[in-house]
Amino acid sequence: MRFSRRMDNLAPYLFAEMERKISEKRKSGVDVISLGIGDPDLPTPAYIVEEMQRQVADPANDRYPSNWGHPEYARAAASFYERRFGVDIDPTQEFMALLGAKEGLAHICLSMLDVGDLALVPDPGYPVYSGGSILAGAEVRYLRLKPEKGFLPDLDDISEEDAQRAKVLFIGYPNNPTAAVIEDDFFERVVAFAKRYDIAVIHDNAYSELTYDGYVAPSFLAVPGAKDVGVEFFSFSKPFNMTGWRTGFAVGNHDILEHLWRLKTNMDSGMFDALQRTSAFILNGPWDFVQEMCEVYRRRRDLLGEALTSVGMQVPKIRGTIYMWIPVPAGYTSAGFSEHVLEQAGVVVTPGSGYGPAGEGFVRLSLTTPDDRIAEAVERIERSLRL
Ligand SMILES: Cc1ncc(COP(=O)(O)O)c(C=O)c1O
Repeated sequence: MRFSRRMDNLAPYLFAEMERKISEKRKSGVDVISLGIGDPDLPTPAYIVEEMQRQVADPANDRYPSNWGHPEYARAAASFYERRFGVDIDPTQEFMALLGAKEGLAHICLSMLDVGDLALVPDPGYPVYSGGSILAGAEVRYLRLKPEKGFLPDLDDISEEDAQRAKVLFIGYPNNPTAAVIEDDFFERVVAFAKRYDIAVIHDNAYSELTYDGYVAPSFLAVPGAKDVGVEFFSFSKPFNMTGWRTGFAVGNHDILEHLWRLKTNMDSGMFDALQRTSAFILNGPWDFVQEMCEVYRRRRDLLGEALTSVGMQVPKIRGTIYMWIPVPAGYTSAGFSEHVLEQAGVVVTPGSGYGPAGEGFVRLSLTTPDDRIAEAVERIERSLRL
């Protein structure tokens, strides 16, 4: 059989391969503890499930939805952006419903990039930024995120030629996988850079609501001029334990969204209105559930941090996301360490190299596992390091 050439450079998605390995181990009787994928272990709260049940029962939601999104959802997102970030969004022009942020991030590559174009992609970074760009036939220029620079890309490091050629820049803070947060005028500098070189900015805001120790994450769109150059993706997956529901949205620059809309009208027929109206209901509040989740993850962060520090690993105290980005012990590569703890301890950690070449030397641990399993995972890792 002959397949498309565009598949030649597309590796299987990082976690698809991990799922295969975990399932093999479980089949062979190993009690695997996964600190791998960031898929919340706790259920979607009952008040959301009940609202969805009500919406599913409403025949008004049975028909084809609009690809822009249900007006109730658009209005709720605009009002949330105003309340939470102080950002003014026109619900009729600057909002689009998405089947999860991942779908939008992958598809936007097709509406923005041609074969031979250049995409600026953080390294390490959420794999869809590079995967989507490669799928579009574009070239990827990795922007190295260095610990000493707070895991922010150094825009001054981008050559004049690459800056002139680049069409899109992907960023995302609070950051997956490094857990870095914005503490300075980085977003302002990004807007100036994007304007200077006519680059579209795609800001991935999937973790803005999961922050700790008083840190409040800003929106990229809150920077004056940001809407002239970019869009922002929001997701319900992590703050509301809704990864399986597939709901999110994009807000920001109308032209960028209009192109994505046109593409998507040819690919999908929108998101189930029952889910869109439930998403609107969530955005309209109350918001206490997210505070509870932040408390759960803060507790797990401290538990995991203390336990790993006591076995001699260097663990930064994260202020956002649900991940810990940890240097591997001396003598291991990322993949080697992940392999070692899977084989010797039955614990899954994600090799940093899966997020790009600069992820080498790190592993990512996710906090989406119950406290007692986290404690057991660390005990097992400690034992395996003595082997
Ligand atoms: C940085 C980042 N963006 C987007 C997503 C995908 O979000 P969704 O579940 O809404 O597709 C994830 C999921 O892990 C993520 O880590």
